[in-house]
Amino acid sequence: MALSAAMLAISLICIAYAAEHSTDTAGKPAERFELGGLSRDRFPKGFEFGAATSAFQVEGMADKGGRGPSIWDAYVRNNPGVIAGNGSADVAVDQYHRYKEDVDLLARLNFDAYRFSISWSRIFPNGTGKVNWEGVGYYNRLINYLLKNGITPYVTLYHYDLPLALEERYLGWLSPQVVKDYASYAEFCFSVFGDRVKNWMTINEPMIICIQGYGYGSSPPGRCSKAVGNCKAGNSATEPYIIAHHLILAHASAVRIYHQKYQSIQQGRIGLVTDFIWYHPLTESKANNEAAQRARDFHLGWFLDPLVYGRYPKTMQNIAQERLPKFTKEEEKLVKGAFDFFGINLYTSRYIYNPGSYSGPVSYMNDWRVGVATEKKGVPIGKRENSFWLYNVPWGMYEAMRYIKERYGNPAVIITENGMDDPGNVPLHNGLMDNDRISYFRGYLQNLKKAIDEGSNVVGYFAWSLLDNFEWRSGYTSRFGITYVDYKTLSRYPKMSAYWFRKMLARHGP
Ligand SMILES: *[C@@H]1O[C@H](CO)[C@@H](O)[C@H](O)[C@H]1NC(C)=O
Ligand SMILES: *[C@@H]1O[C@H](CO)[C@@H](O)[C@H](O)[C@H]1NC(C)=O
Repeated sequence: MALSAAMLAISLICIAYAAEHSTDTAGKPAERFELGGLSRDRFPKGFEFGAATSAFQVEGMADKGGRGPSIWDAYVRNNPGVIAGNGSADVAVDQYHRYKEDVDLLARLNFDAYRFSISWSRIFPNGTGKVNWEGVGYYNRLINYLLKNGITPYVTLYHYDLPLALEERYLGWLSPQVVKDYASYAEFCFSVFGDRVKNWMTINEPMIICIQGYGYGSSPPGRCSKAVGNCKAGNSATEPYIIAHHLILAHASAVRIYHQKYQSIQQGRIGLVTDFIWYHPLTESKANNEAAQRARDFHLGWFLDPLVYGRYPKTMQNIAQERLPKFTKEEEKLVKGAFDFFGINLYTSRYIYNPGSYSGPVSYMNDWRVGVATEKKGVPIGKRENSFWLYNVPWGMYEAMRYIKERYGNPAVIITENGMDDPGNVPLHNGLMDNDRISYFRGYLQNLKKAIDEGSNVVGYFAWSLLDNFEWRSGYTSRFGITYVDYKTLSRYPKMSAYWFRKMLARHGP
């Protein structure tokens, strides 16, 4: 089976090659590779293109190599049946052993950069204290091999995977102690890897950490109010706000250490990665416009307003009132301006309307006070992909970039994730013919370019993901890769979209 799959992949690579080198634009294969006016040269000088992954989703070696467990390891283990198809990340796609093959692929596809994350509990198995040098050695090998192949490392320090030891010791992100422990971990990484890593991302998707881990309780540590879900403990009305506050302070503490002690020597940059969804008013009524703005504030402003303006958005202060923590004068000084760039993970968009009335238990989710729609007058906002939440809305990229430029004084932005998924059971030969994914990337990148042409300070773009991988609660039932992974053999097969990137990113000499 593996052999026939490999032969099939080879024949597809030949089709891909022929298509790339064909001058016949009327033929079907050539159409698939239509760049739609995109090429490396048409983005600003210094703009970097890459592909992204995260440690827990690709590394494997979860309980080996001296790694300590994270809250995700415990969650998968202690909740049988919670992961679709009963998947586990114990092996994932084994990047720990196959990193050279993956880096070679990045280089072959003409990418400039690789965004990966460091597993905190692979460095500090107990969260703090004793260092696992075997884990340090792994990241050194990966970083060095990237640099040897001309690929720039972009390193995320925290991608959902808190050391379980800290959850057990003091309830993890709920305790202010985590701010200090995170900052120590971050400083260790700057001191050990910062001679070679010049692009740091502190924390990935803080809003998702808050809403899933402490609002709905649908991700570890799985906390929520009794009125909201079936959680053992938690408070969806207050904990999401406390967690966000600690995440912001942890981020800002790491940034201060980097700025004060490392940046002038190491010459790198550091930023936060927030997820975002473009929220478009369903109609242009005042009430719907205000509702859409509330959604943007509760999702993105929650983190960007403190970092840019030193306070939470007014809308959030008015609605959450005493449930929303306040920054002390000292904290305000710490957080305001604590970024060199913003990473934005953007996949999709929604229509937002003012619901008129709302009910249900008090919670962060309910505080939004918005209605969410995926269609307008019966017309869907975009084509739905495999994930129920993922509608293909390329113009949302343009709107989101324009919004960030105007609201936050045109900060440097890196699109740190963008992509779409196919079902996990798509067989190899279909999985490789991912025309849908090509048209998704083409549409989003055309809209990104339009925003850049109009002045948005976007300096990089990362496709999610380099590889099909462990997609959290969806396990292996969702394939986001530009590379197909056969989960039985762990063999990698670049999809058509990978070859599309290779063509778009071709380097033409002066
Ligand atoms: C997954 O595990 C649950 C609980 O152990 C079991 O009931 C279920 O049949 C399993 N499902 C699959 C697809 O293996
Ligand atoms: C982990 O850290 C805690 C708190 O500092 C300490 O009490 C414990 O002994 C440590 N465990 C190991 C295995 O190092």
